Amino acid sequence: MTVLAIETSCDETGVALMVNGIVRANAVASQVRLHAEYGGVVPELAAREHLRNLLPVARSAIQTAGVAPEQIDLVAATRGPGLPTALLIGLKAAQAMAFALERPFYGVHHHEAHLYSPWLADEPARLDLNRFEPHVSLIVSGGHTLLVHVEAPLRHRLLGSTLDDAAGECFDKTGKLLGLPYPAGPVIDRMAEHGNPRAHHFPRPLLEEPNDDFSFSGLKTAVRYFLRDNPGLIGDETALRNLCASVQAAIVEVLVAKTVRAACRLGVRLVTASGGVACNRALRKALQEACAAHDLKLRLATPAFCTDNAAMVAALALLQAQHGLPPTGPDAEIRPDWS
Ligand code: KG4
Ligand code: ZN
Repeated sequence: MTVLAIETSCDETGVALMVNGIVRANAVASQVRLHAEYGGVVPELAAREHLRNLLPVARSAIQTAGVAPEQIDLVAATRGPGLPTALLIGLKAAQAMAFALERPFYGVHHHEAHLYSPWLADEPARLDLNRFEPHVSLIVSGGHTLLVHVEAPLRHRLLGSTLDDAAGECFDKTGKLLGLPYPAGPVIDRMAEHGNPRAHHFPRPLLEEPNDDFSFSGLKTAVRYFLRDNPGLIGDETALRNLCASVQAAIVEVLVAKTVRAACRLGVRLVTASGGVACNRALRKALQEACAAHDLKLRLATPAFCTDNAAMVAALALLQAQHGLPPTGPDAEIRPDWS
């Protein structure tokens, strides 16, 4: 089974070719530099870039995979949630390809696809669910922070999500307050490496609440007040590193504690994580330590599959087809607010 998949829900144009579960190509054209100038993703610009990049990225992926178009058995794309105009380009291109090739089309849920990125293991990466077991999955990126109970392949239940800002948004917005470039997440990760995470204590929102929800906007506000009250720290390299480490520690502690607590409460033995923020080294290390302490296994997506990519879209579409789920209609519309 050869799957061509497209991902254009936000600011990455992704095209992947998966052959019998093996990722033969996973091409991504990132728009990060374009949006950096504006301090965030500008939807109209994102859509134009997808339009410009999609066919060259698709051609390159097809070439890398060494697959002839007529060998493609199934075409998939992210149908939602995401930026409407960005989704529209990937979805309509995929439907047109499916129509031209006379192949089924699957329009998938972006967050559901994230659930399968930790299962793209080995080199070359392949979808391997042999060791699948019920688990709790943490999906953390610029747009979402979700805890999901995955009971079986394609069977899952949302446990909790953020009530306001996503974890990545919190990294990016606090980074902006600290004068760091967008997206600030990876910069804070590097700065924090040589900072003291205990230099300042920032709030751990909802840490003690008996639910699986998150809230990060208060943390951003706490950093804003801290900077207002300590103006002398701006421009001091050591102070900046300590601030980055302290902010990161607050975000990481909440994410890890709530994930592990949910896993223990539900009696699962495995935790998985994906999304751009799951690239964060302190988060990866803290998850490893907390899971080991609670006798939980941990499966982290590799960084290339943490950030938005089309390989995870291919993986989900392949699973849906293998489980006999019907294709999505060729006229199906985008679902920007798909819950
Ligand atoms: O999954 P992603 O590429 O796109 C979506 O938002 O869907 O995630 C991007 C987010 C940004 O907020 C970025 O700052 C954050 O992931 N991020 C990180 C790291 N790498 C990316 N945050 C903290 N540490 C990192 N190393
Ligand atoms: Zn995502």
